[in-house]
Order: sequence, then C-alpha cells, then structure tokens
Amino acid sequence: MATIRFYRGDLLLGVTETNPDTPLLELAEAIGIEIPRNCTSGNCGTCMCRLKSGIVSMPEPLPPGIDEDLIEEGAILTCIGIADGPVDIDLIPPI
Ligand code: FES
Repeated sequence: MATIRFYRGDLLLGVTETNPDTPLLELAEAIGIEIPRNCTSGNCGTCMCRLKSGIVSMPEPLPPGIDEDLIEEGAILTCIGIADGPVDIDLIPPI
C-alpha cells in the first residue's frame, strides 16, 4: 500500500491508502471527499482531476471521457483511475 493525498489547489483535503482494486473516486468518497461524478465508467469526464505527482493507471484504449492531450496536461479520470504507488491528486482539473 502507498499513500494517496487529495488536494484542492494547495489545500490538503485528506489522506488514504492505495487499493489495487478500487478507483480513486471511491477511495476519496470513503474518507468523505466528494468528487463530482456522473457516469462512473470513464465516458463523461465529470470526475476529472489533476495528477500532481505519481502514476495513475488508466484503461487502454482510453475511454471517451479523456484523451492523450488531456493526460499530458495531467488529467485523470478518478472513477476508473487506479493509483499505482503514492500519488497526489488535485480535485481541480487541468481544464
Ligand atoms: S464519472 Fe464520468 S468519466 Fe468519471
């Protein structure tokens, strides 16, 4: 297990541990951090956040809610993203 830290900008909102079977959105919710969501399947982009540091695994091929350009800007979809080691997540998306 590794540490996940959720921020809003520079404000630390909460800390939890990675779980290889549980997407970031659910891990955040379990510690009382609400991330906006809609489809919870990678299609709408509502749950988009920004990866400040670390690695988040996304399914291949990428779902409709995200693309390579967004990923280059640090975007992740928390409803399907799995933390791969310690990560810092900013709830404010890059766009
Ligand atoms: S809630 Fe729709 S992409 Fe995550």
